[in-house]
Amino acid sequence: MAGNRTFTMIKPDAFEAGNSGAILKMIEEAGFKIVAMKATRLTPELAGKFYEVHKARPFYADLCNYMSSGPIIAAILEKDNAVEDFRTLIGATNPANAAEGTIRKIFAKSIEANAVHGSDSDENAKIEGDFYFSQLERVL
Ligand code: PPS
Repeated sequence: MAGNRTFTMIKPDAFEAGNSGAILKMIEEAGFKIVAMKATRLTPELAGKFYEVHKARPFYADLCNYMSSGPIIAAILEKDNAVEDFRTLIGATNPANAAEGTIRKIFAKSIEANAVHGSDSDENAKIEGDFYFSQLERVL
């Protein structure tokens, strides 16, 4: 059975552009409940740890530098079929390929500055949520 939680980050481009509120509104209107949330900023080391799974990929260094270049918002979201439904809501990684009406189509600037992150599996959603939030910082 598909899990009911996923993890997201509003990335530095969307935070800097003042789009966090509009993005969170779209997320809530799509039926997701925000069960943990914080504004924070990753160091390059923490970004490297978060994205360790992509270590062998050519864009790893750029991705880590980018994700530590400014403030972000991290959140855990709850909804039936959360991982898959959230990835549908945000659209393709490259905004040039994202469907009309998706968060990345509306707000992303490039494949790097692509507005939001969404977990790609239930397993990674748990790992990523645990990376940012203690038990006391989330709705159990
Ligand atoms: S995904 O969502 O994991 O299927 O996407 P993927 O293509 O595997 O990319 C993983 C993350 O790397 C980011 N990315 C890039 N950053 C910088 N430069 C380039 N060229 C690039 N290509 C991909 C992409 O935005 C994904 O970040 P997250 O935070 O997981 O969305």
